[in-house]
Amino acid sequence: MIDVATVLAGKYPAKAHAKAVVKWMRQKNPNVTGVLYLEGQKTRMIEDNDSEAPFRQRRYFYYLTGCQLPDSYFTYDIGTDKSTLFIPPIEPESVIWSGLPVSEEEALSTYNVDNVRTTNEVAAALAHGGSTVWAIQDQVSDHITFLEFDDKDYTLLKLAIEECRVIKDEYEIALTKKANSISTVAHTAVLKAVKTATNERELEALFIQKCIANGAREQAYHSIVASGTAGATLHYVNNAQPLEGKLNLLLDAGGEYQCYASDITRAFPINGKFSTESRAIYDIVLEMQLVCIDMLKEGVIWDDVHLKAHEIAIDGLLKLGILQGSKEDILKTRTSVAFFPHGLGHYLGMDTHDTGGHPNYEDKDTIFRYLRVRGALPAGAIITVEPGIYFCRFIIEPYLRDPVHAAYINFDVLNKYWEVGGVRIEDNILITKDGYENLTTAVKDVGEMEKLING
Ligand code: GLY
Ligand code: MN
Ligand code: MN
Repeated sequence: MIDVATVLAGKYPAKAHAKAVVKWMRQKNPNVTGVLYLEGQKTRMIEDNDSEAPFRQRRYFYYLTGCQLPDSYFTYDIGTDKSTLFIPPIEPESVIWSGLPVSEEEALSTYNVDNVRTTNEVAAALAHGGSTVWAIQDQVSDHITFLEFDDKDYTLLKLAIEECRVIKDEYEIALTKKANSISTVAHTAVLKAVKTATNERELEALFIQKCIANGAREQAYHSIVASGTAGATLHYVNNAQPLEGKLNLLLDAGGEYQCYASDITRAFPINGKFSTESRAIYDIVLEMQLVCIDMLKEGVIWDDVHLKAHEIAIDGLLKLGILQGSKEDILKTRTSVAFFPHGLGHYLGMDTHDTGGHPNYEDKDTIFRYLRVRGALPAGAIITVEPGIYFCRFIIEPYLRDPVHAAYINFDVLNKYWEVGGVRIEDNILITKDGYENLTTAVKDVGEMEKLING
């Protein structure tokens, strides 16, 4: 177990990331040498307006620099093992508007790089040339030509960073924990407010307020604050409907801390007490989640864990009478996909749906089509475990019209569940050699949730 504050008191380990990336590239091609070249995201203006668009640093750049400054550049000389960060110089004209920018000295003490220079020196630095320059397609400015290099490669660096990002180091784990702990404060605040709130938008505002006040200025993704049947819309974004008369709230929301995401979902009763039907579905989803989490350790095949979640869903829905027939047949026909249509989870990191999962969205097998991670889980990966059961007419009704599936669904029983909407429970799990660590501490026990809601 790491102490978050102690770890985060150090620097983001950008240099170690550069070395890991080169090591990965050399496994593909032992002759890799030359210079890695990356550009940060540029300052962009809102169309037809004199304000800047919200800034989001490029993740490839951040991974090798830990630097959130816009309009910056980076080189890493593989042969000499020297990294250089190029930051915008002081422009006297803009100081009056924006204040002083970060100086080279400040940057050198903040970031884990060997040298800091200003961006007007990038072209001259590259003029030394070398064997190969490794860059990312469409992420090289027009004024950068690489003329002095013998060779240019625009593919391997991107792939290498995407693959290396899967395995998190101590610092990245600490950042994810921090994002999780802030988001837990925000989730708890929403639980406490849901009974008296009148509209989804009040709860979205409260969630964001708590994140910002506790140090997570950005959201990892657009919050899903879905009341009643809206909970069955997987990526619901409206967040502006009244709560009155609805059973449950599905809150899928996570703050981002220094470019690292959290991604947490809870579902709970708006009036503080689950209805019989809601509680029954919640209990199934919680069992899906707890059993799946307990399966996790290095080397486990994610596809198997996902299948296990379906098996538990089928068992539970058979018990309730929503499904009928044999478990084996239902698994074979993939009828449970009607109720659990998405994958069990995805890698989490600088992107909410992080890189390196190797999904196959063309998979003919519907149960695996939306699984964002395929194959064995390595130690050091952080993955979400987010089973759900949804009552979405748009998804379920085609199954009811298809005789292959309709035979396994009891329409009369199903009819009692539409108002449940959707239940999803989502935690962020670190895979370890012998098991896992759950980085999410937001409550999910029914008794504890109901107690918080009722004050
Ligand atoms: N919040 C998006 C997801 O859970 O994948
Ligand atoms: Mn997720
Ligand atoms: Mn989520």
